[in-house]
Amino acid sequence: MQKLVVVALLLAAVGCNQTKEPSNTELMESKIDSLIQQMTLEEKIGMLHASSSFTSGGVERLGIPELVMSDGPHGVRFEHGRGWERDLTVDDSATYLPTGICLASTWNTDLGYRYGAVLGTEAKQRGKDVILGPGVNIIRSPLNGRNFEYLSEDPYLTSRMAVDYIKGVQDQGIAACVKHYVANNQETNRSGVNVTVSEQALREIYLPAFKVSVMEANVHTVMGSYNKLRGQYTTHNEYLVNTILKGEWGFTGLLMSDWASVHNTREALLNGTDIEMGTELTQPTIDYNKFYLADSALAMIKSGEVPVSVVDDKVRRILRTMFRINKFDERTPGAINTTEHQQVALQVAEEGIVLLKNDNLLPIAVDKTKTIAVIGDNAIRRHAHGGGSSQVNAKYEITPVEGIQKLVGDKATITFAPGYEVTRANKANKKMIAAAVETAKNADVVILVGGWIHNYDPSVWGGFAFDSEAVDKQNTTMPFGQDELIKAVATVNKNTVVVLFGGGPVDMYQWINQVPSIIQAWYPGMEGGNALANILFGKTNPSGKLPMTFAKKLEDNPAHSLGEFPGQNWEVNYGESIFVGYRYFDSYKVAPAFAFGHGLSYTTFVYSDLFAEDDEDTIYLTFSLSNEGKTAGAEVVQVYVADKESSVKRPEKELKTFTKVFLEAGESSTIELQVSKESLRFFNEETNQWEFEPGQFEILLGSSSRDIRLSETMNL
Ligand code: GLC
Repeated sequence: MQKLVVVALLLAAVGCNQTKEPSNTELMESKIDSLIQQMTLEEKIGMLHASSSFTSGGVERLGIPELVMSDGPHGVRFEHGRGWERDLTVDDSATYLPTGICLASTWNTDLGYRYGAVLGTEAKQRGKDVILGPGVNIIRSPLNGRNFEYLSEDPYLTSRMAVDYIKGVQDQGIAACVKHYVANNQETNRSGVNVTVSEQALREIYLPAFKVSVMEANVHTVMGSYNKLRGQYTTHNEYLVNTILKGEWGFTGLLMSDWASVHNTREALLNGTDIEMGTELTQPTIDYNKFYLADSALAMIKSGEVPVSVVDDKVRRILRTMFRINKFDERTPGAINTTEHQQVALQVAEEGIVLLKNDNLLPIAVDKTKTIAVIGDNAIRRHAHGGGSSQVNAKYEITPVEGIQKLVGDKATITFAPGYEVTRANKANKKMIAAAVETAKNADVVILVGGWIHNYDPSVWGGFAFDSEAVDKQNTTMPFGQDELIKAVATVNKNTVVVLFGGGPVDMYQWINQVPSIIQAWYPGMEGGNALANILFGKTNPSGKLPMTFAKKLEDNPAHSLGEFPGQNWEVNYGESIFVGYRYFDSYKVAPAFAFGHGLSYTTFVYSDLFAEDDEDTIYLTFSLSNEGKTAGAEVVQVYVADKESSVKRPEKELKTFTKVFLEAGESSTIELQVSKESLRFFNEETNQWEFEPGQFEILLGSSSRDIRLSETMNL
């Protein structure tokens, strides 16, 4: 009898309160609850601000370690000591990937994932928890000093590349940090410039990449930006953080400040800043107790002015992030400077370099070329250390000269002349031009490598710089008298290809018709010289497409014609509203030098047989793409949609999807793409809602935003 009773009791216990296994999330939350309950207020506050240059506080007593962060978006940065001094006792070399704008120029989201995976793996190997990237700020002016780190003028391309980049990082068990939230589109007065922007532009242009990073890529951390938006600092902005980020989007991770972007304790406590990094308060002796979210926050809680629940939510988000990256458990090992990572760098460079113009000079037939003149300081310059916080101690960096020498040095004679000098005088050097002309005169082909640089002195931030944090370019005039050099060289040798480094366009009108070929190389990373050589000599067929419009002249850009850049009196008005980039050039009929989405190939792609149909939610596109040239290649098919009947002024066309198709010579493929009808909505400021207006739409398939190959009109 006894046993029966026991069995019965056991069955009853199991039967009547059959509790399901707690989910991982529930387990995590209960662990967090337990930790928070054990913490003193001082220990909680200690987690809300920096404990060193790149760490935020832990609680040793409870086994909570510091959270360790590192820049940057295209490689794990120098190893800094706790007080910012560089730690020269460790090998902090890393894979120096092509910068963000080059990655975006690949239009290859799979590559975006692999790029993120390299970053995550290398960050893990270096003992970091958070890699401070991707930078997704929209390129609204070519002058912004940090465009090289960012992705595009278009929110959809930016979004797609960011999502896979973040997944790549976080699948390695490391947190990504999408930045800088939001409207940090210039460096001039970045620490406090107040951005005025329409709600429609905020929603349609500046927020989308952050929204998908949170809602689709599940990014663990977000970094607030330095600037204000509509009068309040973005890092502790009631509307941006409480209403949108943590409200509408349901973000459960942590919002950290940019370094010294917190300016108010009460706002930081109440408007969602979870960690304050860097500080303007006490430099150079950093007293972390003087941070806004340190002693003054402690006092505000103790006085009851702000409830402790506000602090608990911040601590919860920090601990959640730690659990999500296995901070408390044994981590799988990372890896750094591997050949696989370097191969990713090479592939991103090869697919991101853009062939802008080519009148039958490229690819160079090396068997018919005896002497190749390489001209230009950027043919021998290394860039990895420059640009500001995104700097990398590259394991190596192949320059164009080295790449060309390695590929064809045994087949042709290669000569070199610097052609211009990088000095603060920033003017042409006649003697150097004359020497370059002599070199060019005696060559079968000239490869002239110029464009922008980061900093005059890579170890010096900002100041006399071009593509760098803390400064914007003053104009789009090529520095160091390069225009004069190009004209002089092209005069003596018609077989001149111009290769441009940099985070954006230069004015080309003085020589664009004088040279047969132009390549945009961006900052192509450690394998850039090899990638460039592979493209120049046809080992690789270029497939890059511009992620931003290259205007004929600066004032043609909407931020400079309709809007303000960089504004004045610490105010900047985004008067162009949603008409950013090609949305402006196409709608206002301004011809660019090279259009958004433009990029040539050594082969020919033919589009045909477009069939479009739709159901309640989706447009279905089917078409044929064939490679009718003699070499294998990849085409980025872009799908734009034009709303032909709308109650508000909408852009002439907007990118809604794209795909990169690799085809052998002679190969054809049937491609199927979808466009969600939801993506055709616009943000109506009258109703403060996203709205879809039925009517006539045009579906445009193109090889660029201005090279439309197939179209279909639909009534939706
Ligand atoms: C910088 C940059 C940010 C970087 C941070 C840490 O000021 O704006 O992108 O991650 O500080 O270096």
